[in-house]
Amino acid sequence: MYGNDFAASGGELLDQVADAERELRAAADRSVRGGSDEETYFTELVAADQKIEPRDWMPDGYRKTLIRQIAQHAHSEIIGMQPEANWLTRAPTLKRKAILLAKVQDEAGHGLYLYAAAETLGVSRDTLYDLLLAGRQKYSSIFNYPTLSWADVGAIGWLVDGAAIVNQVPLCRCSYGPYARAMIRICKEESFHQRQGYEILYTLAHGTPGQKEMAQDAVDRWWYPSLAMFGPPDTDSTHSAQSMAWKIKRFSNDDLRQRFVDMCAQQATVLGLTIPDPDLRWNPDRGAYDYTAPDYAELMEVIRGNGPCNRARMANRRAAHEDGAWVREAAAAYAAKHAAPAAPTAEAVHA
Ligand code: 3HC
Repeated sequence: MYGNDFAASGGELLDQVADAERELRAAADRSVRGGSDEETYFTELVAADQKIEPRDWMPDGYRKTLIRQIAQHAHSEIIGMQPEANWLTRAPTLKRKAILLAKVQDEAGHGLYLYAAAETLGVSRDTLYDLLLAGRQKYSSIFNYPTLSWADVGAIGWLVDGAAIVNQVPLCRCSYGPYARAMIRICKEESFHQRQGYEILYTLAHGTPGQKEMAQDAVDRWWYPSLAMFGPPDTDSTHSAQSMAWKIKRFSNDDLRQRFVDMCAQQATVLGLTIPDPDLRWNPDRGAYDYTAPDYAELMEVIRGNGPCNRARMANRRAAHEDGAWVREAAAAYAAKHAAPAAPTAEAVHA
């Protein structure tokens, strides 16, 4: 005799197993939910710094906020490939080209992790693409600025990826599990991106006078747009208060901006480059650097679609989407073919 053979047989055994499983599920449900209703359960989970998972009930506004933010984040990663891809064919050495290629591919990967996280909220990637292409969802303002020299690749790594890390490390503790988990991997890769940019700038800043000038010019152009990436000031931020209460965002836009300034002020000294802000200075009373805020009117114009490269970025994205239609169709046909039940073989038919 083996296992359950002695206890019961046939239908009786199956009924027992089903009853036991039902009981187990009910017990687990009781212990997790503590008998409270769904909304209380959600609030308690968030308060206890636990993760909300796709199977859990969540307020409609929480779901909508996550879809909005994760989709905007995913679109930013995908559109964000364009400014740097502009330098793939003109990287100064084969090694620099290989590194930049890997970095740009990483950004595509980040977009995919994020679209997958958004899909757990019940919205398909196709829908999100359509909303982006229809101009109904946004992507980060920063990717609407041009990359005029090789040093811009360094400035993007140091400043743009640096800002992304400051903004995104707290998102690893976001209350929504799939987003938080995607962010852990993304942040590891962003750290590498930031270092490669820093190293490009360091090399240029310690090169010929012309190279140093090129590095400084790139920092001059990318500094304020990078500060603006953190969003409008707290007084004008429409979503921050609710997103922080739900622990989607952990810090306000201005808090993160300040952290970024404090980090860069010191790194610039090591680079030997100047941050283009005559009012940047350490304030011992605040224990932080005072700095000049970015031009928020310019940020709003860029968000409205009137930045230097908005039209070109969207035109490229639309063209890539249309050019890639045959790949999506082929992948769907392949998946359908493999999902269909296999036709019986000749041997099986004659057996
Ligand atoms: N660019 C475009 N839109 C922006 C923006 C920016 N830099 N900053 C704010 N906005 C928009 C918001 O989306 C919102 O508009 P909406 O209501 O139509 O969605 C409006 O301005 C008001 O701003 P809020 O402060 O109220 O918005 P949030 O609370 O969502 O905060 C955010 C904005 C800080 C960008 C937040 O959404 C966030 O942390 N997002 C996740 C990170 C992200 O998307 N980063 C984008 C860059 S990705 C990147 O850098 C890739 C890397 O490889 C370089």
